[in-house]
Amino acid sequence: MKSIASAPAKIILFGEHFVVHGTKAILAAINKRVTVTTTVTETRTLTGTLKINSQLGTFEIPMYDDPKQANFLSVENYDLGLSMIKSEFRPFVYLVGKMLDDARSRTSVPLNFQYGGLEITIDSDIPIGVGLGSSSACCVAAAASISELFKKLSSEKILNLSIEAEKTIFPDTSGADCTVCTYGGMIEYPSIEKIGNTFDLNLLIANSMIPHSTKRSVEKVSKFKENNEERFSQLCDLENGLIGEVNLALKNKDLTTLGLKMSENQKYLEEIQVSNDTLRGMISSLKEISLGTKITGAGDGGCIIALVKDENMDKVPALLPKDKECFSAKIDTKGVEGKREK
Ligand code: PMV
Repeated sequence: MKSIASAPAKIILFGEHFVVHGTKAILAAINKRVTVTTTVTETRTLTGTLKINSQLGTFEIPMYDDPKQANFLSVENYDLGLSMIKSEFRPFVYLVGKMLDDARSRTSVPLNFQYGGLEITIDSDIPIGVGLGSSSACCVAAAASISELFKKLSSEKILNLSIEAEKTIFPDTSGADCTVCTYGGMIEYPSIEKIGNTFDLNLLIANSMIPHSTKRSVEKVSKFKENNEERFSQLCDLENGLIGEVNLALKNKDLTTLGLKMSENQKYLEEIQVSNDTLRGMISSLKEISLGTKITGAGDGGCIIALVKDENMDKVPALLPKDKECFSAKIDTKGVEGKREK
């Protein structure tokens, strides 16, 4: 038996970083996906094996060390156990442990008799660590894929599980990324309501090819906040105000204002110091042909997004340095999807 689930990548159009400190944000799911397949590999062994295969490597861990079903991945072991596991595998181990614990509370039959071993395989076309939400999409797809083998969950429960799983790598996550990966479309976080009127936005994504650490960038911004409390609070107010204006621009299909607001948002991101010379260089190369350009995601590397007029799309590759990748993104409306197979 196996369960396959996929979830989309995301971009943040407005509000990254500030959203961690309570502002709204506008995000969209895009047409790149990660697929997580969870397969039952063995039945009725004493210890069972959880195997995880991803492009980052392979990892194996026993699932049960007590045949009386006090499973190895139980909640009591999380802090110690999870901290010893490489961060890229932690969310999957957490999710399996969580589902086993939940199953244990519902049944008196030893879990190893019911669930055997599991193999989780991750296939992704989302670039890793560049601000397109690859880790959140993985957590959402994994929560859907793993839970499906144990218990049917609502989207809301999948979302909550995925946020908890992501916290095993990045405890301060705002939850905005997992939310848009779960529901798809364009949303104004914290609402999950889709913004209907997204017309045909030509969104170009350019990758600086510099990987970043979201955790480190978020910590850096927290330091900035500590040292500049008043200004940071003003910037949060400005961000919320800007998002209000963006909503109006979206309603009026006003691309010019939308672009201007993106560039304004970039100024706030510059001020909190998550930009760098490479990103500034890329933003400036696209100046002539874009209505607005900004970082998307944590910054300090990663990707920028540009709102580009249709007739200018072809001109983009020639304007960017040769070592940068770029592609146009379409908004994904489906969010997480999954199915179980025999
Ligand atoms: O770079 P990414 O895809 O990990 O996005 C991070 C977005 C932040 O706002 C910086 C953090 C968050 O949890 O919202």
